[in-house]
Formats: sequence, structure tokens, C-alpha cells
Amino acid sequence: VPTRELYDLARRVGLEAAAYVRSARPAGRVDVASTKSSDTDVVTEIDEACERLIRERIFAARPDDGFVGEEGDDVIGSTGVDWVVDPIDGTVNFVYGIPMYAVSIAARHDGEIVVGHVVNIASGAEWGAVAGEGAWCHEGDDRRVLAAPTVARLSHALVATGFNYVPEVRAKQAAAMARFIPQVRDIRRIGSAALDLCALAEGQFDAYVEQGLKPWDLAAGGLVAREAGIVLSGLDGGPDERLVMGAHPAIAEEYFALVRACGF
Ligand code: IPD
Repeated sequence: VPTRELYDLARRVGLEAAAYVRSARPAGRVDVASTKSSDTDVVTEIDEACERLIRERIFAARPDDGFVGEEGDDVIGSTGVDWVVDPIDGTVNFVYGIPMYAVSIAARHDGEIVVGHVVNIASGAEWGAVAGEGAWCHEGDDRRVLAAPTVARLSHALVATGFNYVPEVRAKQAAAMARFIPQVRDIRRIGSAALDLCALAEGQFDAYVEQGLKPWDLAAGGLVAREAGIVLSGLDGGPDERLVMGAHPAIAEEYFALVRACGF
């Protein structure tokens, strides 16, 4: 597959979508249009309009691809390429005006994520990755993102995390978190998995753990992290909806063992 072309399309559409969301966002709080899995799982009209815009642009360029988006029906394509899209990752932040929400666009080929682009809508900072070619940040001059060892000990690790929106799942996650927090420096719940994973790639976090993500939360940011050299793992090795753990290889094994021991 022409991964560079796919990347350029993801980036062009991601930037247009981010500009749309910036111009459409009213001052103050944004109205919640509906809720999904629970009262905390919110959707706004701007999420929906943003996904429609992304679908239109992608299908105008590549009419036969598949599409998996957070807000609309899946489309089965015939090219082997599927787009995995979160029009606003971090919708709760978006609603409250906390400037940590992103457009996340990834392309998958035969089941493997090959391209990912994440743009922080409020700041304009952008990260991208192409499988096998590395990860980069487009803020100012483009630069390669390469994860470097951060801490030597888990007790010094700052760990990004998030919680699922289903109350029973949250309660279990909180119990595992209660065992985990005393063993690390601290945790951050930024509210956008895509931005968490890009920040992990940049070394702003030492590690990451989350359960119950959806494919569109993980696809683009996960590729940025992996291409930067972060190890992402899950229950059966690969990260998936059930568990995503991430860390630099220098601490990954020890960190993954801690996460498992805490009952995540
Ligand atoms: C959410 C964010 C959040 C994560 C949730 C996701 P959304 O995505 O990525 O950080 O903890 O699990 O659902 O709903 O804002 O697109």
C-alpha cells in the first residue's frame, strides 16, 4: 500500500477537521447531544459533524476503502485499507473547554495499522507515524520522535491512564489503580488516549496503562508510540481493547509485571 500517500491524506484531512472543530466550538461549555455507554460517555453535534466531514474527504479521495469511526456506521471496503477514526478523542475535555482533545486518524491495511496522525485541536500540535518509517512531530519544524529511557525505577514513573465509561468497569479499574498508585510516582488522567500515547512517545510520561479503549482511541496514537520505540503490550502480547500497557524497553518488562500484579 502507498503508505506515504495514505499519511498525506490522513494529515490533510486531520488538519481540516481540527480547523473545523476550532471554528465550530462556541465559547464556554459545549452542549452534549446524547450519551452512549453511560452518562459520562458524551457526544456533541460537533463530534458527529466532524466525523461526517472526515468521511466525505476520505471517500472523495479513496471511494473503495473501509471506514470505522466512533460516531457512525462501519463501512466495509474492497481495497484492504480501512480508516480508523476518532473525530474528537477527549470529548469530555472538549465539552468543558480543557484544551486536550484531538482528531485521530489511522489507516489499517489487512488488519495492521500502517499510518497514524493525531492533532491536538486546541494547540495545533501534530504527531504522525508510518509503520516501519518512524514517528515525528510537526510542531514548528518537523522532528523525529524517538523514545529515550526516562526513569530507572518504577517508583519514579509518571504514568498516564484513563478509565472506561461503564460504571462497573470503572469500579474495577479504580480498585486496580488503588494498588498501583503507591508503587509509582503519580498518575495523570489527561482525558485523551491519543494524546496520552503521543506524550508517552515524547517522554512526557514514563508509562501508560488503560483498559477498555476502542480501536479508534488506540490506532493512531498507538502507532506513534510504537514507531517512537515504545513497547505496547496487552493481555496476549499485543495491545487491544482489554488492556494497553506501554513503556520504554528499558523498564517495560518490570512495568508490565507490576501492572499485571495490580490486577488490571
Ligand atoms: C476517550 C478518551 C479517554 C479514554 C476513554 C476514551 P473519547 O475517548 O480517549 O482518554 O480514557 O476510554 O473513550 O470518548 O473522548 O473519544
